[in-house]
Amino acid sequence: MKNNFKENFLENYKLEGEKLSIHTYPAPILKQIAKPVTEFNNELHAVVKNMLFTMYNAPGIGLAAPQVGVSLRFFVLDIWFDREKITLADGSEEYRLSEFSPMVFCNPVFKNKSGEVIHEEGCLSVPGIYEDVKRFELVTVEFQDMFGQHHEIEADELLSVCLQHENDHLDGIVFIERLSFLKKNLLEKKFLKQQQKKK
Ligand code: CO
Repeated sequence: MKNNFKENFLENYKLEGEKLSIHTYPAPILKQIAKPVTEFNNELHAVVKNMLFTMYNAPGIGLAAPQVGVSLRFFVLDIWFDREKITLADGSEEYRLSEFSPMVFCNPVFKNKSGEVIHEEGCLSVPGIYEDVKRFELVTVEFQDMFGQHHEIEADELLSVCLQHENDHLDGIVFIERLSFLKKNLLEKKFLKQQQKKK
């Protein structure tokens, strides 16, 4: 699967950038419908670089622009990277990251969606909450890379789920809102209570 769309990977990627702060549910920006990317310029590339840095260090497998306060239709993802948790001499823990295959999706459009799959999802904007979500099994997505070049990919399994999850962020939808009314309310309460405790 991975080799089918290698053209969209950032070549010679180096883990560098700035850690951005991630908006957590129910921040208003997470509810907005993001606007199309029209400028594929250095400013966009700088945000992409910082989003990847933030995603890897979280660690997470996907991050959409609205989550870092940018209401534009793009997201980054990498479902293949390796992370190893290591304990330092002082007892603190950190992740050692390697094997990066970052991808950037601008202005994604879902062409085909078929089948059904249930997968446990989590989200950097709803930390600590994990739940099974029903998604399409197979998707075909048209998108632009961060240089504005057009591509199309077919995805299944985790990549398909991740594309749908991230694309939802561009439409103002967080994964718990894909659940039944009861389950959503339950998880929302649980999450907000956890957030209160952290303060
Ligand atoms: Co998310």
